[in-house]
Amino acid sequence: GKGRFEHYMLKEIHTQPEALRGTLSGRIDDGAVDLETFSEGSFEDVEQVHLVACGTSYHAALCGERQLVRAGIPATTSRASEYFDLQTVDENTLVVAVTQSGETADTLSALRRASSAGARTLALTNVVGSTVSREADDVLYIRAGPEIGVAATKTFTSQVATLTMLTHRIAQDSARGTPREDAAAFFRELDALPERIEDLIDATTAQRVSEQHIGRQSYFFIGRDFEYPVALEGALKFKEITYEHAEGFASGELKHGPLALVTSDTTLFALLTGARGDETRRNAEEARTRGATVVAIAPEGMAVGDVADEVLRVPDTHPDLAGLLANVQLQLISYHTAYGLGREIDKPRNLAKSVTVE
Ligand code: F6R
Repeated sequence: GKGRFEHYMLKEIHTQPEALRGTLSGRIDDGAVDLETFSEGSFEDVEQVHLVACGTSYHAALCGERQLVRAGIPATTSRASEYFDLQTVDENTLVVAVTQSGETADTLSALRRASSAGARTLALTNVVGSTVSREADDVLYIRAGPEIGVAATKTFTSQVATLTMLTHRIAQDSARGTPREDAAAFFRELDALPERIEDLIDATTAQRVSEQHIGRQSYFFIGRDFEYPVALEGALKFKEITYEHAEGFASGELKHGPLALVTSDTTLFALLTGARGDETRRNAEEARTRGATVVAIAPEGMAVGDVADEVLRVPDTHPDLAGLLANVQLQLISYHTAYGLGREIDKPRNLAKSVTVE
């Protein structure tokens, strides 16, 4: 049940530390990653990775793509319903279907196209025995526990964490791969992420900030690098459960068009965490000059007084993981805004938890 929480979504946001511990349990040991059935060498033939997914899982896949590319593995992400360019797919292509439910028709259909083209397929899913887990050559479970709220929250965090571990294993096995040099520090921080999420939830002022921004005309979310998929995810979650107009942008793209939409009735959430937070900080300033109210999601210690009207803080962690913490603040923003508007949070209109039609 929902326990002490009024909605499953809030419960699932708050129990992310527990979900993430389930995801990581037994898989990280002193900078080494052990993914049960994938023994050493199991990815040695992998020359490229295609990730296919929809919605929130697509945003998680974009985070995975960035990790893979940086580890020397050519990788691209496609929305499953747009996965048509299979010309380079062969048995050395690993196609990873990222799907919480394992039942999304668009994703299953992309997986079947990949199989027919001769790819090796891997399902990254939360649901044991789901259709995707039966159809793919291999399966890697995210072990986040059941997610009931229609809006995906804890499973995004667990998907990204699983993709970082998968990346490391592929990079170790494949001739093309260069595992990250700071693996020990990175995986130590990943292991500590559940505690960081607890600290963030204890200290957050997301409810107060949300209440102050109800009734604006548009809500924009900007980020770059790992924070770009987080901006897209923040906007998706926001439109799903608040029914307000929200858009996610790559921060650098604002000035190439979307800036024309910015007025004094715009609230802009700027993701200032990660390695490129300072660049986004400048883009937020450009929007603020045009009248936007800026809410910064920023690491402890970053001065934001001159660019932001308000700030939500993110505990210190590895720069490549900070986006996951920033995302928790955005989940809370969406939740409290929807709550303030009296929306039906766990069952938004027109949406279903598992989309079984193409
Ligand atoms: C967003 C959301 C949807 C799903 C999408 C894919 O909160 O829940 O966008 O992420 O329908 O679902 P799965 O991951 O089950 O394939």
